[in-house]
Amino acid sequence: MAEKQIAVVVRQYNKEEPTKAIDVVEKAIREPGQGQAQVRMIYRPINPSDIFCCQGIYGGFRPKLPAAPGLEGVGIITKLGPRATSRTTHTARQLKEGRRVVGVPWPSAEGEGTWQQYVNVPFEHLIPVRDEVSSEDAAQYLINPVTALGFLEDLKVPPGKYLLQNAANSVLGKELISLAKRRGTKLINVVRRDEAANELKQLGAEVVINSKTENVVDRVMEITGNEGAWAVINPIGGEASRPFFSAVREGGLIYIFSLFGEVVIVPMYDLHFRDITVRGFWLNKWLGRLSKEEREGKLLEVMDYMADGTIKPPPPRAKYHLKDVKAAMKEAMKGGSQGKILLEG
Ligand SMILES: NC(=O)c1ccc[n+]([C@@H]2O[C@H](COP(=O)([O-])OP(=O)(O)OC[C@H]3O[C@@H](n4cnc5c(N)ncnc54)[C@H](OP(=O)(O)O)[C@@H]3O)[C@@H](O)[C@H]2O)c1
Repeated sequence: MAEKQIAVVVRQYNKEEPTKAIDVVEKAIREPGQGQAQVRMIYRPINPSDIFCCQGIYGGFRPKLPAAPGLEGVGIITKLGPRATSRTTHTARQLKEGRRVVGVPWPSAEGEGTWQQYVNVPFEHLIPVRDEVSSEDAAQYLINPVTALGFLEDLKVPPGKYLLQNAANSVLGKELISLAKRRGTKLINVVRRDEAANELKQLGAEVVINSKTENVVDRVMEITGNEGAWAVINPIGGEASRPFFSAVREGGLIYIFSLFGEVVIVPMYDLHFRDITVRGFWLNKWLGRLSKEEREGKLLEVMDYMADGTIKPPPPRAKYHLKDVKAAMKEAMKGGSQGKILLEG
């Protein structure tokens, strides 16, 4: 009889109460197939995108239900399936049993996400974790750090110009602050609370605006000598999105990249007369646009940034056992960006 593992499954999406979408079950541990590695998971963070998946509003993919959720995490290779050793690159040579790895992507789109104890992953999708990176940090390697690099690579903000980011005190925002500093990109950071502004200043952010007490457009114009920000990244919709379109330079680009709010409000004036462009950004699409070599290069670069401390996720807010996933999700949904809730076990 096959050994059993604990797994979380989404049975039916629930937009209003995503904790009701999931159950904890026992299921058989499967042998790794052709070209796959079996990975015993260590930690998985709860990201906003995991909540969106349980709500059934995540647009990237909708696996057939029941499906194991979980878009990222870290684990240890426990077994290699047949022909899971064929790659000859430097990276592949490190991918042996006992090695800590992250998946890019994990097979979440096929309903085999990281919120289970064992995941069989295509060998080609594994990146070895550098020894300097803790498992808590490595669990958060993919979604935010790689996106932070994606923004900077895509937007190519020239020296002396500013990138304007909203929700700058999010985990992603904080990682972008340190990565941008390392790469010489200037940032204007927008938050909605004084406490968050002070926290970012202590982290080394040079320019922080509190959108609740300051006029974002006026402040950005003042900082940029009336030119506007070179580009904008904004994950927040609704009324809060409005000023970002007026704070970008003429001909500037605005990336929208989340589901916090169902609509964004774009002033017609800025679209009509100021030639601005509004685009979506989704990490998977960005990675998909790169050649195989470029992609591997960027992914290893992010691992290096984590190893040298340039990108350091905030310490986890709490750890919960996988079987206590509902309580963990409730905690994660309370918001606040002091660090991720990690699922362990
Ligand atoms: N498209 C992609 O490929 C991609 C990749 C990575 C991340 N993301 C998105 O990036 C965002 C940040 O991710 P994260 O993991 O860093 O999140 P996080 O640490 O949970 O932070 C959430 C942030 O959103 C802010 N926020 C939430 N609702 C808000 C509202 N109504 N108005 C203003 N601010 C609000 C919070 O501010 P307070 O602290 O003031 O509550 C906090 O700064 C998420 O939306 C995530 O889905 C997208």
